[in-house]
Amino acid sequence: VRKRLGSSVAPAAALVFLAAAAPACAADPPAAPASDCRGCHADAHPGFERSGHALAATEPWYARSLALSPPALARLCARCHAPDAERPRAGVTCETCHGGPEAAHARRAAREPALDPRLCERCHVVDLPLGKDGAWVHLQDTPAEHALWRERTGDPRGCVDCHASPLAAHFAGVRDPDFLAGAVAVSIVPEDAAAAAGEVRGEVRLENLAGHAFPGGSRLREAWVRLALVAADGRRAEVLAERLSWRGDAADGDTPVDLRLAPGEMRRFPFRAAIPAAFAGARLALECAVDLALVSLDFPDSHPMIPPGEPRVVPVSRARVALVSPSEGR
Ligand code: HEC
Ligand code: HEC
Ligand code: HEC
Ligand code: HEC
Ligand code: HEC
Repeated sequence: VRKRLGSSVAPAAALVFLAAAAPACAADPPAAPASDCRGCHADAHPGFERSGHALAATEPWYARSLALSPPALARLCARCHAPDAERPRAGVTCETCHGGPEAAHARRAAREPALDPRLCERCHVVDLPLGKDGAWVHLQDTPAEHALWRERTGDPRGCVDCHASPLAAHFAGVRDPDFLAGAVAVSIVPEDAAAAAGEVRGEVRLENLAGHAFPGGSRLREAWVRLALVAADGRRAEVLAERLSWRGDAADGDTPVDLRLAPGEMRRFPFRAAIPAAFAGARLALECAVDLALVSLDFPDSHPMIPPGEPRVVPVSRARVALVSPSEGR
């Protein structure tokens, strides 16, 4: 095999060869191919170039926060964001996760699992000395949240089952709107009687369907839950507005309160509001929008880490119910 697929074979030629002789290759990968992984594995993780992993060393938020961080920390940041010392701008590379081709292919030959099950933990547990007087802050622990989720829901799915499924083949996250669409289930449960009495009352129910807290990952994410009373002519009145974030109502700014949806949580947001006089007689509905905002409460108006053109708010879920208006009776 090595003779046929070795370093002397150009990637294009290797591809043609693989297409023609796939079954043989599937059973017997080359021991030490030298060309870059993509030459032979064009199908692995479609869209990888656009993923957070591929962009981890170069995306603008990282570049900006690296520039703002104490220079002594740069090497620490690189351990997760630019782990390939030979290609510091390549982000998290094929080799970071799979090892070099020898390692990747030796594991296959030995029928071992393709990857160490603790691989994701290496980087998705984030502690950084960014607190007061350089104190270490526990910033992210998705694996611990995920363990809690499994315990609470009995759902066996691992990180890879959700993030590298055929739909989300490249470890999709907030950069992929289709992937986000399944993250929470939202429903509005109004009390009709209250609508008839000139007010709306009821609750919004939000169920976290992600395999960890929602929003997961970076603290630069927060979810907005907004409920509005909407008249048929398009007029709107806000009924409820909540932020699910890491900062929450932290009084001293140093001990953030985690207001995100916990793993497996179904949270109820009760609402009660008078129907504005101007809406009298109009056909009314309640509309709820759950969005993910890429912001930090440190910078409420202009987030210096969001470059122009970057989408600030990504839709996650929507719900709508029509109300029985007082004039229609019951
Ligand atoms: C010269 C072609 C070639 C190159 C270059 C190459 N591979 Fe492979 N690789 C194969 C073939 C052939 C197989 C076996 C068929 C398959 O599963 O696609 C394979 C299998 C694999 C598998 C599957 C292992 C399993 O358990 O199913 C992984 C992972 C892998 N390669 C990773 C890599 C990585 C990472 C690189 C770059 C560092 C790389 N390969 C470079 C040809 C190549
Ligand atoms: C963040 C870690 C990570 C990175 C980066 C990564 N992979 Fe993977 N790769 C995985 C995981 C996890 C699996 C699935 C293993 C499983 O199903 O058990 C996988 C599966 C594969 C497979 C086997 C696919 C199959 O059909 O079973 C190949 C081949 C592969 N990766 C190649 C690559 C190549 C080429 C790159 C770079 C473009 C790359 N990987 C980057 C983690 C990674
Ligand atoms: C070498 C470190 C490293 C490893 C190993 C790693 N990740 Fe990541 N991952 C990162 C970094 C860094 C980012 C953030 C990149 C950014 O947005 O700057 C990230 C981002 C992500 C994202 C968001 C992607 C996006 O496009 O927004 C997901 C999902 C993810 N990782 C899942 C996984 C899973 C699942 C595994 C295990 C198979 C894994 N990661 C292994 C470092 C790693
Ligand atoms: C049941 C499916 C599921 C499982 C299991 C799961 N996730 Fe997620 N993950 C999601 C969904 C849906 C989102 C998008 C909503 C959000 O941001 O929380 C997400 C978001 C993320 C993000 C933020 C994405 C971004 O672009 O910022 C990261 C990082 C992440 N997951 C990593 C992991 C890791 C690591 C594991 C395993 C320890 C894991 N996930 C397990 C479904 C899952
Ligand atoms: C232990 C691994 C690790 C270290 C060390 C680390 N990060 Fe990260 N970082 C991550 C992961 C994982 C994510 C992605 C979470 C997500 O996608 O939601 C991330 C996300 C980020 C983000 C948000 C990117 C975005 O798209 O929202 C910024 C900014 C960032 N890191 C900057 C830094 C800086 C600066 C340092 C060094 C002071 C650093 N990180 C050190 C793992 C690490």
